[in-house]
Amino acid sequence: MRKKIVAGNWKMNKTPTEAIALAEMLKPKMSTDNATVVFCVPYVDLVPVSEVIKGTDILLGAENLHFEDKGAYTGEISAPMLKDIGVKCVVIGHSERREYFAETDETVNKKVLKALEYELTPIMCCGESLSEREDGITIEKIRIQIKKGLKGLSSEQAKQVVIAYEPIWAIGTGKVATTEQAQEVCHAIRVVLGELFGDETAQEMSILYGGSVSAGNAAELFKMEDIDGGLVGGASLKEDFEVIVKA
Ligand code: 13P
Repeated sequence: MRKKIVAGNWKMNKTPTEAIALAEMLKPKMSTDNATVVFCVPYVDLVPVSEVIKGTDILLGAENLHFEDKGAYTGEISAPMLKDIGVKCVVIGHSERREYFAETDETVNKKVLKALEYELTPIMCCGESLSEREDGITIEKIRIQIKKGLKGLSSEQAKQVVIAYEPIWAIGTGKVATTEQAQEVCHAIRVVLGELFGDETAQEMSILYGGSVSAGNAAELFKMEDIDGGLVGGASLKEDFEVIVKA
């Protein structure tokens, strides 16, 4: 059976002091029988949050990494650095990074390969803009992002990857995709994964939905056949995250 995953993406929120308080508040509420919970937090919060969640099943996640092991890349953080402090997962290619930090499918691909080399689970994001949806090219856009982002991976490597489908128009807008829209694209993602890596692999890979997931809509979204959980922004910073995890 595919893993159910609920990952909180804290984005650029919470100082280390605030992060400790948030993780302490959420920690006792995160127990679930059948889902993996991940806190993806800003770099400076990783170590303090790791202390708080020690001894729980909550996994520590980063929000980005560099694709080289080390070197003259001022301000960047590498996979071995993340590995060394106990990070298990890393968000790669979020639309905010693509938009504001010039990430491309090519850099996303390099980062996915680097994460896998260090046994970090990549949560690779894809998603269409509003104009792409209006132009009827959503599926084409997503297929290209998946093919380019996962270029060069073996089926065994692909099984370690989590895909997050996040329609850009639904991020932080309160405008959630309908369950049908989300299911349609997540299914299309599984189809392209099957073409690339074989059906067996595609069936094993977890595909998350992200974009205004809330306590009110999570259960409905997560019921859909090809949606294996969520990547949650705003609602992961609140008590509401418990309801989403339970869903
Ligand atoms: P919101 O849940 O705030 O819409 O953010 C979604 C997201 O970008 C998660 O990565």
